[in-house]
Amino acid sequence: MKHLLSVADLDAATATGLLDTASRLKETLLGREVRKLPTLRGRTVVTLFYEDSTRTRVSFEIAGKWMSADTINISAKGSSVSKGESLRDTSLTVSAMGADCVIMRHPASGAAHRVAGWQDKDAAVTGTHTSVINAGDGTHEHPTQALLDAATLRDELGAIAGRRIGIVGDVLHSRVARSNVLLLSTLGAEVVLVAPPTLLPTGVAEWPCRVSHSLDAELPALDAVMMLRVQAERMHGGFFPSAREYAIAYGLNENRLALLPEGAPVLHPGPMVRGMEIAPAVADSSNAKVLAQVRNGVHVRMAVLYHLLAGAPE
Ligand code: CP
Repeated sequence: MKHLLSVADLDAATATGLLDTASRLKETLLGREVRKLPTLRGRTVVTLFYEDSTRTRVSFEIAGKWMSADTINISAKGSSVSKGESLRDTSLTVSAMGADCVIMRHPASGAAHRVAGWQDKDAAVTGTHTSVINAGDGTHEHPTQALLDAATLRDELGAIAGRRIGIVGDVLHSRVARSNVLLLSTLGAEVVLVAPPTLLPTGVAEWPCRVSHSLDAELPALDAVMMLRVQAERMHGGFFPSAREYAIAYGLNENRLALLPEGAPVLHPGPMVRGMEIAPAVADSSNAKVLAQVRNGVHVRMAVLYHLLAGAPE
């Protein structure tokens, strides 16, 4: 694997290999006073973020540091991007300075693919190779989020194949939903998207999942549910249904939590909008695995860096 741009880059064996590596890294580091492996000593990892982030950017930085890579963070604000530098020039400048891997988030769908194409062309001339990891591109994909969600589901359910997983909410604007539908179906789960018709993308009928508009009808038969953030920043001019109607019809509150099978895990990629897609009592309940997802994020990203920069492990 040269880059990780989309879940479509992962077949079931590769995805399972990454999840197994993440799980072994978690076991290896658990309870250690010094969480440092020498695996990526001498390698340089750069995060290049054109959109805000807490979980993804920080966990990639921690993942790199725990494997002894040199990690550098660039955000568009405060870089030469604000002087008008193009994405191509910025990304090639970073690789010319010696980055072995560029982890990038960008508001445009397909941005990571474009950067990987420029890097591959440059590598053909210079002989230096830079891997690109898509850390979220517009409404397109967020592959490492899907991997950490799968790791959490494996921890909670034992196996993903044959399970029914609900993904609920603003699918239209969600790169997390798209990557999760692809990965969970690749791993053998049955995926049900639950959303109002106005928050579903055109073409969803081609996705490997079923679509429903009734959360109450689906909850009793789900093994796990993943709530999506309502992405107000991508809805110029408001959205339908209104925020209040949305919370009433699609918010996961305590009454709805009781409809789920007992102990069914509730996931959310974060950041949560409490009171909108998830009630505070549910977010703080024992069903909620939000912080377990965050913890798994570090190990999954270590596994991805390991596969890309040190080769797939035996
Ligand atoms: N889930 C996720 O991508 O969170 P951040 O935006 O904080 O990275």
